[in-house]
Amino acid sequence: AREIKIAPSILSGDFAALGAECEAVESQGADWVHVDVMDGHFVPNLTFGPAMCKALRPHIRGVMDVHLMIAPVDPYIEAFAAAGADRITAHVEAGPHIHRTLQAIRASGTAAGVALNPGTPLSAVEPLLDMVDLVCVMSVNPGFGGQKFIDVTARIRALRAMIGERAVHIEVDGGVDIATAPLVTAAGADVLVAGSAVFRGGSTANPAIYGQNIRAI
Ligand code: DX5
Ligand code: ZN
Repeated sequence: AREIKIAPSILSGDFAALGAECEAVESQGADWVHVDVMDGHFVPNLTFGPAMCKALRPHIRGVMDVHLMIAPVDPYIEAFAAAGADRITAHVEAGPHIHRTLQAIRASGTAAGVALNPGTPLSAVEPLLDMVDLVCVMSVNPGFGGQKFIDVTARIRALRAMIGERAVHIEVDGGVDIATAPLVTAAGADVLVAGSAVFRGGSTANPAIYGQNIRAI
């Protein structure tokens, strides 16, 4: 069986205490910390950029998984790499030259991922599978936490077959919770991003709830 990783999205954390939130979820069993970067252009919401990643870096012992929902991507890759991102995932829809973008991410020394919106054909990532070690299958239209899960299980199954013997993670992002996690892992996903399902009911003052939520997923 494939080892499943849980990557809490700090988008659902307390923005006034994100360093402490990173430490809290890691202490409660998070495998990766997922950082959602939004530009108000590629997606209809704004979050934060490389300066926040740099500020969070000392508060994350493990993997900082940076999900870029921005366009263009290329001018910012060096800044996110310098800020300490371990992984950078860019959207296939973010511009006409995703191949170049992935080359630039790899050249920065950071692990490269490609993300796919729910309305984008799976075939868009096929030429990129030898350039990445992660494909992020969006199970919501990106921009906000707490949205309803869109059933992407058939896409995950087809993607797992397309990946074949390659060592490529399938990350699922959006609406992953206790009910939907088993569906996507059965289909072949191995990295589960979860925002509201992890942070719900807890706080940095009561991080044990995060641990309960993580173990429930
Ligand atoms: C969606 C973001 C996700 C999101 C996940 O735009 O990329 O990472 O915050 O949040 P939940 O788990 O609440 O759907
Ligand atoms: Zn995300």
